[in-house]
Amino acid sequence: MATEIVASRSVPGRTSAALREIAELHARCGIFTQNSTARKMLGRIGWDEQEDLSRARFLDPCVGEGAFIVPAVETLIASLRRTATPLSRETLAGRILGMEIHRPVFRKAREAVGAALVRMGVDEPLASWTRDDWVRNDDFLLRDFQGATFTHVVANPPYLRWGKLPQGLSGTYRACLPGAWTSSDLSVAFIAKMIDLTADGGRLAILSSDRWMHAAHAERFREGSLRKVRIDHVEKVDPREVFDTPVSTYPVIAVLTRADAGDAAPLPAMQVADKSLRAIVEGWMSRFPSIVKAGCEIRVGPALGREAAFVARALDVEEALLSPYLRAREIVGDRLAWEGNRVISVHAPSGGLIDLRRYPRAARHLGRFRQRLEERACVTGDKCAGQWYRTIDRVDPTLWARNKILLPEIFRVPRIALDQGGYVPAHSIYAIFSASWPLPVLRDLLACGVLGVVMDCIAPRIGGGCKRCYKRFLSRLPLPRWDALPEETRQGLVASSAARNRDGFTERIVGVYEVEIDLLWQHATRDWCSSWDR
Ligand SMILES: C[S@@+](CC[C@H](N)C(=O)[O-])C[C@H]1O[C@@H](n2cnc3c(N)ncnc32)[C@H](O)[C@@H]1O
Repeated sequence: MATEIVASRSVPGRTSAALREIAELHARCGIFTQNSTARKMLGRIGWDEQEDLSRARFLDPCVGEGAFIVPAVETLIASLRRTATPLSRETLAGRILGMEIHRPVFRKAREAVGAALVRMGVDEPLASWTRDDWVRNDDFLLRDFQGATFTHVVANPPYLRWGKLPQGLSGTYRACLPGAWTSSDLSVAFIAKMIDLTADGGRLAILSSDRWMHAAHAERFREGSLRKVRIDHVEKVDPREVFDTPVSTYPVIAVLTRADAGDAAPLPAMQVADKSLRAIVEGWMSRFPSIVKAGCEIRVGPALGREAAFVARALDVEEALLSPYLRAREIVGDRLAWEGNRVISVHAPSGGLIDLRRYPRAARHLGRFRQRLEERACVTGDKCAGQWYRTIDRVDPTLWARNKILLPEIFRVPRIALDQGGYVPAHSIYAIFSASWPLPVLRDLLACGVLGVVMDCIAPRIGGGCKRCYKRFLSRLPLPRWDALPEETRQGLVASSAARNRDGFTERIVGVYEVEIDLLWQHATRDWCSSWDR
C-alpha cells in the first residue's frame, strides 16, 4: 500500500525566493542527530528487528541527512527477512516515509537510503524505486496526509522561534496551521502534527528542547495535543552527546504513546528525583488549593525587546515615563540591591503608544536606537507601522507599583525578596501579588522551604545544576487560603515573621504542611538558613 501523498496545500512554489527561504531555514535549524542516539530512540519506540514490522508504518517528518531513516531502513529490512516476508514493491510501499524540505539535504538522505537498501541485499531496481517512495522532498507542515497514520514516529524536529523563521514561510504557516501550533516554536508545530499522524497505540520519540512541555507560550498546544498522548518517558540528555554540532539548548528525549488522556492533562514525569518527595508534594496538592486559587496573582516582568534602548542608569528622558527597574542579579538573598536602573514606559495608561512629539527627550533618546529597534520581529508587519519604539509587553507603572514578592525564574537555590519599592522586574523575574495573604508572611513561607520542595519535585532542571520555575509550575504551588488557617496559626505566623524568628516560623509551617522540619531546612533559601538569626 503506497503512502497516499497528494500535492501540498502550498509548498511555496519553489520560486527562487522560496528556495532561498528554505536554505535560510535549514541553515538555522539543521542540527543533526548522532547515530547512537538515533538507534537508541528507534529502540525506545519498538522499531526493532526482533519485532514483526511487516504491517508497521514509520514516519520521520524531517530527515536531514538521514540520521533516523537510514537505521530505520536497516531495521525494517532485517525484520522483514526474519519474518520471511518477501521483498517487493507491494510489501515495501508506504512502510517508511521521510520528508525533508531542503533539496540538497534531501538528495543526500535519498542516496543514503538507496545505499542502505542495497547494503541490506535489496536488488538495485527495487532499491531505487523504494528510496523514491520512502524519501520525499516536501514540506511536512503543509502536506495533507489525507487520513494516513503511522505506527512509529520519530524526529529531531527543527527548533526555531517563529520570530526567526523567514517571513514568507512564517506567513504561509500562520495562514495554514492552527493558531495553537504557531504561537511558540517551529518544533511545537511539528510535534503537534506528529501526534495527530500517529495511529492509536502508536509510539513517538522526540529529541528536542523541553520547552514544548513547559514554556508558557506552548500552553495552548499542550491543552490541545498532550491530551491525545501518554508520556511514557522523559530523559534529559547532554547536547554534546546527542547532536553533531554544539547547541545551547537543553534537550530531552521524550517517548509518547498515542492514547486519549481525556481531561486529565498529563504532567510530564520530569526528572522527579525522589518518589517520597513526589508523594509529599502530591499530598500537599490534594489538601491545599494552588497559590493562584488561594488568592495570589503571578506575573512575569515585561519583555522589552532590546533592553539597552529602554533601560539605563542615567536616562535623559521625561521623569513621567520612568520607573525603577530591577534585574535578577539585584535580588540578593531576601533583599533587593537596586543598581539604579530605570525603564522607559512607552505606553499611555489607555494602552496605546505615547505620542513621541509630546516627549522630545524620550524621542531623542529612542531615536538613537531607531535602526536596531526597527529590526525587531515584534514591530515588523503592516499592523505595527509607526510602532518602532514599542516594547514587546507594556510596562505598566501602576501595576508594578504595588507591593509584591520577586523571585528569579532560574536559580540553583531560590532567592525570594519582598519588593515595597515599586520596581518593574526584568523578564527573567516572577512577581507574586496577593490581597489576601500578608506579603511578608507569604515571602517567609516560600523561603522556609515550601517553594524549594515543590520546585525540586516539579520544575525542570537545566544546565549548571539550575532549575527553571516556569509560571505553570509556580502556579501549581500548594498554599492554604489565609482565612482558612486557624486564627492562632495566623497570629503566630505574623508574629514570628515580624520578629524574624525563623525557627518559630518554620515550626508553624511544619504544623500546617505536616512535614518533617529537616526537609524544609534542606530546601530553604540561603538567607533563611544563615546563622545570623538562628
Ligand atoms: C533539526 S534537523 C534534524 C534532521 C535529522 N532528523 C537529524 O536528526 O539528523 C531538522 C531538519 O528539518 C528540516 N525541515 C525544516 N522544516 C521542515 C519542513 N517544514 N518539512 C520538512 N523538513 C523540514 C530541516 O531542513 C532540517 O534538515
